[in-house]
Amino acid sequence: MQELRNVPNENKKEAGQKINEAKQYIENAIAEKLAEIKEKEIEMLINATESYDETMPVSVDYGSYHPITLVQREVENIFLSMGFNVEDYSEITDDYNCFEALNIPKHHPARDMQDTYYLSSNQLLKTHTSAAQNTILRKYKSNLESGNPIRAIFPGRCFRNEKIDACHENTFFQMEGIMVDKDISISNLIYFMKTMLSEVFQRDITVRLRPGFFPFVEPGFELDIQCSICGGKGCASCKDSGWLELCPCGMIHPNVLTAAGIDPEEYTGFAFGLGLTRLAMMKYEVKDIRLFNSGNLKELSQFTDVSFTHPEESKEA
Ligand code: PHE
Repeated sequence: MQELRNVPNENKKEAGQKINEAKQYIENAIAEKLAEIKEKEIEMLINATESYDETMPVSVDYGSYHPITLVQREVENIFLSMGFNVEDYSEITDDYNCFEALNIPKHHPARDMQDTYYLSSNQLLKTHTSAAQNTILRKYKSNLESGNPIRAIFPGRCFRNEKIDACHENTFFQMEGIMVDKDISISNLIYFMKTMLSEVFQRDITVRLRPGFFPFVEPGFELDIQCSICGGKGCASCKDSGWLELCPCGMIHPNVLTAAGIDPEEYTGFAFGLGLTRLAMMKYEVKDIRLFNSGNLKELSQFTDVSFTHPEESKEA
């Protein structure tokens, strides 16, 4: 139509007619196709096998496990097979357990990293699963007296005052692990971490260990795993670094052992804080951490492996 003005006057009429004819033809064709699609859509709705009856009783056959539950259970199974106890701990705790007992006194700068939600009862939402270390160490202290190690893992939901984006959440899951005995060293720590990760991923994964500071371990490390989403090239999920911090760890600080009534001269131990949410992201190649708390059943249900059973469940059965 725009070109019409360049057509010599004597041909304008004919050209205009031709263009209008073509336009009409195209418009009709589109309208026809649209009507056809609409019809098919209606047909599909009528024939749809998917129907929903809200009066139906809830059946246990429906629904699926949350991907974090799946990863948690998988890691639990691995550690159970290595003689660890699986422990539970509350989401609400206090300043002593979350910080003081972990060698993080009031006003220590390490607290800045773990701002949380404080309750009016002088309690707080735990910022890390390490908050249970004191309680669990005390619970199993008698093991040491009878010549046995303390071996425990404790998964849990943690909370931090975070700005939410593709890789940060204010609510996430960790799994803490501790082992204390005579002569426990960094090599024990590395062995358990490697065994666990190769089991979870069922393939060789690239990890790196670098120094990391946490007041409750000495020495402390960051165990990073190569980002499986971009293969180490760098993407939004790994903040363009190619690596994801997965498992901070280290040798339990003597002050932490002392706070639990264990003699650090006699016993040593390691602790790790596995990022369960991170691990689920890596394992299932979830690009955005916000999916986990989204309640988006369509997305969340696709990870369930129905053949998977937890030892606790098969016991019940
Ligand atoms: N609790 C630490 C955190 O969440 C992680 C950690 C656990 C570090 C155990 C060392 C040993 O940041």
